[in-house]
Amino acid sequence: MFDRQKKGERAVLVLPHSRGEGDSVRRADEFAELAKSAGAEILGSIPARIDTPNPRYYIGTGKAEEVAEAVRALGADLVLVDHLLSPVQERNLEKLLNIRVVDRAGLILDIFAQRARSHEGKLEVELAQLKHLATRLVRGWTHLDSQRGGAIGNRGPGETQLETDRRLLAERVKMLTKRLEKVQTQRGQQRRARLRNTVPRVALVGYTNAGKSTLFNALTQGEVYAADQLFATLDPTVRKLDGLSCGPAVLADTVGFVRDLPHDLVAAFRGTLAEARDADLLLHVCDAADEERDRLRDVVNHVLDEIEAGDLPQLRVMNKIDLAGVAPRIDRDDEGRPTQVWLSAAQGLGLDLLRQALGELLGGDRVRSQLRLPLSAGRLHARLKAAGAIVDEAFDEEGWQLSIDAPRSVIAPLSGGSDAALLRDLLGGAAQE
Ligand code: GTP
Repeated sequence: MFDRQKKGERAVLVLPHSRGEGDSVRRADEFAELAKSAGAEILGSIPARIDTPNPRYYIGTGKAEEVAEAVRALGADLVLVDHLLSPVQERNLEKLLNIRVVDRAGLILDIFAQRARSHEGKLEVELAQLKHLATRLVRGWTHLDSQRGGAIGNRGPGETQLETDRRLLAERVKMLTKRLEKVQTQRGQQRRARLRNTVPRVALVGYTNAGKSTLFNALTQGEVYAADQLFATLDPTVRKLDGLSCGPAVLADTVGFVRDLPHDLVAAFRGTLAEARDADLLLHVCDAADEERDRLRDVVNHVLDEIEAGDLPQLRVMNKIDLAGVAPRIDRDDEGRPTQVWLSAAQGLGLDLLRQALGELLGGDRVRSQLRLPLSAGRLHARLKAAGAIVDEAFDEEGWQLSIDAPRSVIAPLSGGSDAALLRDLLGGAAQE
């Protein structure tokens, strides 16, 4: 019987780190931000150096005793551990401390549960949460009879499952998986329909707190919640982006990336990050004033590889130049293509340069031209129309006069077989024979 009293929010953090790990202060700050995002009040944090993980508690026995003392002294009712714990380790710690223990995966899942907005996102969170719970349910919760309240780690759809037996849990996982597959098929169909309508898609990605939501708002004048909080945006939000020389584009905001995202969660959130995978171009937002910016950029690129978006074209945005003391500018590669734009989303500096760079990059891959089709090319005409590539047309006794405006990626696949010659001029000689 889980009550939903405002209990379980007063937390002690345990911060394991191994020898030689350079950035433990930053990691500690990030974990504290995560904990605050979940609504915890942080009473104290205890670093724990791990040379060899203790199978019983993960942290050493002496350290576990130190945590127990801190919990008693501070009157905490929750311990958050910045590492993945095995179910047995979590249980042993809970027995020793006599309060709830939530590991890094449990904490991130809790935040996801609070922030998921789309139907699909919610299903994904519930599924990931139930799978996480399934490994922990076998233990029973009797050792925590008096402390079963508390929100963090219990929040969201998972909580009602705690008193359910494993069979019911397995059934629910099966049902959710099926439902999710259905939603994903539907979304795939919607995506295909969208692809037909030729508007280029740009997705914002970046390490958490780099300023994605701020930039999204600055570019689209929208009202997306921007806060100095991890995961302020979980589900992608999509808006129209105007003012580009290539015509309008669609801009999607996505979830902030963090290091050590538990692997199961990467898999569970593939759908949430689908906007990034579908994009024609990724806007990779970095905090120019962060001395660790190069490493954080690598973390993001690593996750992008994992969700199979690593090969997409990227334009880097070096945000927060007001803090870095840099003037707005565009950096270009040897061929003159924009690679990086320095700006300040919050101050509105350099946004015009970003629009210019986007226009150049997206426009370069668009086919904009007049096309004359003979009457015999009715099939190609129909395919161009279905692809949404025709913006204007006139018909006379000799055939069609068309104005074409579409991404090259939409036109090129149509140029097979007998249509190759007709599209050769349009594609600059690149049509397949
Ligand atoms: P997540 O949703 O956690 O991934 O964060 P995000 O990348 O969407 O960052 P968000 O837009 O929420 O911005 C994070 C913080 O940086 C906020 O406090 C912003 O006000 C601040 N910020 C964003 N852009 C700038 C900028 O150009 N200059 C300065 N000084 N601060 C900025």
